[in-house]
Parts: sequence; C-alpha cells; structure tokens
Amino acid sequence: MRAGTWIVTGGAGFIASNFVRLALEEGWCERVIVFDLLTYAGRLENLAPMIEADPRLVFVRGDIADGEAVEELLDSHPADMVFNFAAESHVDRSIHDAAPFVRTNVLGTQLLVSASRRHGVRRYIQVSTDEVYGALPLDGEERFHEERPYAPKSPYAASKAGADFLVLAAHHTHGQNVIVTNCSNNYGPYQFPEKLIPLMIMNALNGRKLPVYGDGLYVRDWIHVEDHCRAVRACAIDGQAGETYCIGADNEQPNINVIRRILELTGRDETLIEYVKDRPGHDRRYAIDSSKVHREIGWKPAISWEDGLASTVEWYRKNTAWLESVTKGDFGAYYERHYGGK
Ligand SMILES: NC(=O)c1ccc[n+]([C@@H]2O[C@H](COP(=O)([O-])OP(=O)(O)OC[C@H]3O[C@@H](n4cnc5c(N)ncnc54)[C@H](O)[C@@H]3O)[C@@H](O)[C@H]2O)c1
Repeated sequence: MRAGTWIVTGGAGFIASNFVRLALEEGWCERVIVFDLLTYAGRLENLAPMIEADPRLVFVRGDIADGEAVEELLDSHPADMVFNFAAESHVDRSIHDAAPFVRTNVLGTQLLVSASRRHGVRRYIQVSTDEVYGALPLDGEERFHEERPYAPKSPYAASKAGADFLVLAAHHTHGQNVIVTNCSNNYGPYQFPEKLIPLMIMNALNGRKLPVYGDGLYVRDWIHVEDHCRAVRACAIDGQAGETYCIGADNEQPNINVIRRILELTGRDETLIEYVKDRPGHDRRYAIDSSKVHREIGWKPAISWEDGLASTVEWYRKNTAWLESVTKGDFGAYYERHYGGK
C-alpha cells in the first residue's frame, strides 16, 4: 500500500534511518520528508546514498522543540502521516543531564503532535520504548504489556512516558488520530556506538576492553531494527486510533551472553571483558508481551537473533569508514570520559 507523504522526525538516527531506507526501497509511501536536528546521534551518512540519489527523499534540518520550525515544516510539506522518532535516546546521558531529554522528548513531542493536528495530518505515530513500564524482577515470568501502568525509572524513560501521555491526551481531548508504539531494545546497522551492542562490537573489533556494567546479568529483550520498522509501519497502517502497541521479538538475553556471543563472532576471547561500576538505578530486566500486535495487526518478527547478530557484526566489520566518521568530535570526547582506555 502506498500512501502520500510521510514526515519522519529523527530520520538521520539509528532506527528512523533504517525505517526511511525500507520505506523507499519497498515503496511504502510516495515521499519521505526527514526532519532532524543532526545532534551527535543524527548523521547524514546514515541516509547515504539515498539522500543524494533519491528524489523521493527530502531532508530538512530542524528542531522538533522549536515551534516555528515545526510550523514551517508542516506548512511547506503537507503530510499524510507524521512518525516521531526524534529523541534524546541514551539512558546514560539522561543520568548526567536530563534537561535535553525534557526539551526534545516532552516539549518537542507536544509541539509536533499539536502542529500535526492543526495541519490536518491524518495520523500521528509516536515511536516509544518499553522502558516507560519500568523494570521487572530477574526471576519471573511477568512481561510488559499495554495494560501495565507506566512506572519509568530513568530520566530518559520518564521523558518518553511524558511524551506518550501527551500524545494519548491529544486523542482523548481532541479526538486526534494517534498511535503509540512501545518497543524493546533494538540492534542492527547504523546504531550509534554508545549503545551496548555496537559499542561491544566496535571495541571487540579494535581489541579494546569490553566494559560490562555490574554483574552483567541485566536482561534485555532484543529485536532487529528492521523487524521494529516493519512493526511501526504495520501499526501505522492497521492500528486503531488512540491505541498503544507493545513490540518485541521474544528474545530475552542477559548482557553477558550478548557480549560473549559478540566475542565469538569477532574471534576474540573473554580476557577483553572488564566489569565496571554499575549504572545508577540500572533496570534489571525488560521483557515484552507482543500478543496484541500479533493478534490485531498480524505483525510478527522475521529475523532470528542468531542471524541478526551475525549480520550486524558483519555490517560493523565492513563499515569501518562509517564508524570512524561517527565517532569523531563530540562522541570521541564522551567515549574517552566514560569508557576511556577500556
Ligand atoms: N534504540 C532503541 O533500542 C529503542 C527502542 C525503543 C524505542 N526507541 C525510540 O525510537 C526512537 C529512535 O531511537 P534511536 O535509537 O534511533 O535514537 P538515535 O539517538 O539514534 O536517533 C535520534 C535522532 O533524533 C534526532 N534528534 C534529536 N533531538 C532532536 C530534535 N530536538 N529535533 C529533531 N531531531 C532530533 C537526532 O539527531 C537523531 O538523528 C526514539 O524515540 C527512541 O526513544 C529506541
């Protein structure tokens, strides 16, 4: 199904650049307008070569937390759907300074959802996280699902929760056509190497130490980014207005197992593992029950953990120029401060 013009905020970041690539390759829509501030995490390289070569892709640099810029975006690019992927997304950074998280994730979402309503956007999709549900005990069968009350624990998760509430309030108050998706941890190509999987791959490839928080027994429910992107598209097309959808791939893994597998795939041994001081307030376990999206939308993940992780390691091995380019500047200094020499 092809559907008009889609605005994709944060389109130069990890998940949304994969979303834009799939949308163009598979003709999900006629035109994609990427709106991105290009923070340290947003990279035009992530949209190459489409950005130079594909006339269906338009890039606009701008800030979702700047009301005038958002108005101008929607004035000059009337859109059928708006997908809000733009966010400050790294939990560790939110612990050091939460202010940019409140500005982009909360204020930015409010400005974007309101402007979408005023400009007659048919549907607004808020891309959110399972971290809004808080944390689960390590031992237990319980999983996050749509009826579970929000209980965010980190400043990042709290800002995403605030954003979700504002979007759902726009539906309840104004009858606005919105969807919220809450997904588990993503991995795959183009992920900025401050997050667990690309950081460990990068360090293993370079023979550097792999810093493991605490006891390494933090469990995350990993999903390949392309599965997540297809799920967001499916919810945007077939979801019910005002509903939230939990997205995951039934793939719970303790961090230490993920790291051991990366060592195997990169041909390194466990002497590279180095246990470091834990993250404050570290959530123990996340796990998603996606039965609603299976049942009501008909979406299911298609990429196995084994294949997905192996192809991701391969992608980072082949794309050393991308890695070098994105780790220059701000990230270089940040990396040295937090993981320096390890
Ligand atoms: N990475 C995950 O595992 C995961 C899981 C579930 C949900 N999510 C959500 O998916 C979305 C994308 O995550 P990601 O990992 O790709 O993030 P990312 O950090 O890689 O990308 C974020 C993008 O947003 C842009 N951006 C930041 N502030 C902006 C602003 N004020 N205005 C416009 N653009 C701005 C950045 O330049 C960047 O391109 C986020 O909303 C995140 O909360 C992520």
